[in-house]
Amino acid sequence: MSRSVKLATAAALGVVMIALLPVVSGAQQKQAKASVEQPAPKPPVKLGLGRPALPEEIQAWDIDVRPDGQGLPPGKGTAKLGDAIFQEKCTICHGEFGEGVGRYPVLSGGLGTLKADRPDKTVGSYWPNATTVYDYIRHAMPFGSARSLSNDEIYSLVAYILSMSDVIKDQDFELNEKNLAAVEMPNANGFYEDDREVSEKQFWKANPCMKDCRAAPKVIGRAMAVDVTPDNKAGPKVD
Ligand code: HEC
Repeated sequence: MSRSVKLATAAALGVVMIALLPVVSGAQQKQAKASVEQPAPKPPVKLGLGRPALPEEIQAWDIDVRPDGQGLPPGKGTAKLGDAIFQEKCTICHGEFGEGVGRYPVLSGGLGTLKADRPDKTVGSYWPNATTVYDYIRHAMPFGSARSLSNDEIYSLVAYILSMSDVIKDQDFELNEKNLAAVEMPNANGFYEDDREVSEKQFWKANPCMKDCRAAPKVIGRAMAVDVTPDNKAGPKVD
């Protein structure tokens, strides 16, 4: 493109922009006026995009299992079968006995520790419903290959994980969609409805203090003086 043509184009653009300016500001004014008057919202514009989801597509996403077992697919498994699947697909992160590798979650132990200073919250010690274990594995495990397990494999894995906490004792016990919801977890009664409206009522006031509610705190020491902050700019000395 020659220099003169470029210049001509730029000049033409300039004309267009100048011509547009009053139009834009006019539209803005109109908009500002409209927002004051608050007209009724317009119905959504149909963009002609997409299509209604097919029943099979909805079914493929609709995989949640509720605490009472609603949503469990037909299938069966045992801890013995689950052991073999677990060793193949889960131990790399969760360890052979569910002890957890590195910082990956521990899946066993922890029973009776919930009231300790450092509670060990595992499936067995903490989760209130066995059905949630099915739901969780079905949605998310093995990490990175979610949705790769069959329904029967998941029943077996749930049985194996529950057997690690002695919730299921017989390695050949058949877990299926009919009996999973009836499996009682050790912490089944550890959860309760939020009762703060009653238990914390004494903290509620009709007119809470919003200003000058207490005397200004008195500073009794400074970090540098009590020696928790290094006083030289280079930071603490390292031997
Ligand atoms: C690549 C590593 C990896 C593999 C393999 C893996 N998991 Fe996990 N698993 C995780 C991570 C990470 C979490 C925690 C995820 C989070 O909290 O968001 C987790 C969490 C879990 C939990 C919930 C633990 C809790 O107390 O919150 C269960 C149950 C579980 N995995 C089961 C399995 C099973 C069964 C398999 C094998 C089929 C498996 N995982 C394979 C990494 C893995």
